[in-house]
Amino acid sequence: MITEKINIMSDTDSGISLAAEMLKQGGTVAIPTETVYGLAANALDKVAVAKIFTAKGRPQDNPLIVHIAEISDAEPLVEKFDDTARLLAERFWPGPFTMILKRSDKIPKEVSAGLDTVALRMPVHPIARAIIKAAGLPIAAPSANLSGSPSPTTAARVIEDLDGKVDGIVVSSDCEVGVESTVITLTGEKPRLLRPGAVTLEQLLEILPDIEVDSAVLAEPEKDKPVASPGMKYKHYSPKCEIYLVEGSKEKYIDFVNSKSGDDTAALCFFEDKDKIKIKAIPYGSKEDGISKAQGLFEALRQLDEAGIKIAFAHAPEKSGVDLAVYNRLIRAAGFKVIKL
Ligand code: TXA
Ligand code: MG
Repeated sequence: MITEKINIMSDTDSGISLAAEMLKQGGTVAIPTETVYGLAANALDKVAVAKIFTAKGRPQDNPLIVHIAEISDAEPLVEKFDDTARLLAERFWPGPFTMILKRSDKIPKEVSAGLDTVALRMPVHPIARAIIKAAGLPIAAPSANLSGSPSPTTAARVIEDLDGKVDGIVVSSDCEVGVESTVITLTGEKPRLLRPGAVTLEQLLEILPDIEVDSAVLAEPEKDKPVASPGMKYKHYSPKCEIYLVEGSKEKYIDFVNSKSGDDTAALCFFEDKDKIKIKAIPYGSKEDGISKAQGLFEALRQLDEAGIKIAFAHAPEKSGVDLAVYNRLIRAAGFKVIKL
């Protein structure tokens, strides 16, 4: 049902019904979620799921997250929704939180990229939930960007990346969280954090005191070693310009970037420090406010390319709270190049 002209829909009742109808008919529709926009398709229909991979240019071995509208929707999709999964669901769903469990036969191998597991998330965004509910289906949805580019946090960026490549785009407001969901796996001996997000490690530790942090969260995955989450091995969130992640105090960072020059050099900085920086400065959030950095990061990365920047230095956030998620995305955008001042 690929239409010749892209269907841009509003986030009204009629837009929600149209999006749900397209999903039921096997189409692909970009939808807002609280984290980033997602490119949705019926998770039970392998032909529909294949269209997601084509539209994004996504490697076939990178599995998709399946989105549901109610906790009870999880049960048919997994081997067992055990007490731990239920506790986590009751605490963190709906919200920016994804759990990986052993999958049931209902999940096509195209969704799980051949793994025997499935990633499940119940978004809190009212439009996302309304569309999933109206479709009456589990919905596979990766971020609605072209593979390799920063995830889209505004409808305009979705249109920029996917216009003409998908059946529909639901236009809504900018994403409130701004980085993708926290991903944990419950399929190993101990629970393990694979991707940090707005549900923080500190919050998870309250329920899962034995949770481990996968080494790929803060460091480059070793070559030729299998990674727990295939998405972690790809160069991600990457603008075309070369980025260096810079760790150090406000004063040291400002001195460091002010020692640089050139029209094609920029500093990603905190709002508070912008006026003290003499080269081009793009603020991505406030130092003390992790969510503001999460909200602003991907848009700031896209702005680097638009401004024709070739080299950018990014002032590193902390490695705790929501900042950990921002650090995790930035170190990937930087190709793991870190400068310690
Ligand atoms: O916030 C989000 O999670 C957004 C919105 C749209 O919901 N979605 C999202 O999807 O970020 P995506 O495809 O861009 O990232 C999913 C990540 C990838 O790194 C993928 O490898 C991992 O989750 N993943 C998915 N299923 C998995 C599985 N069964 N085992 C291990 N990793 C899995
Ligand atoms: Mg993605």
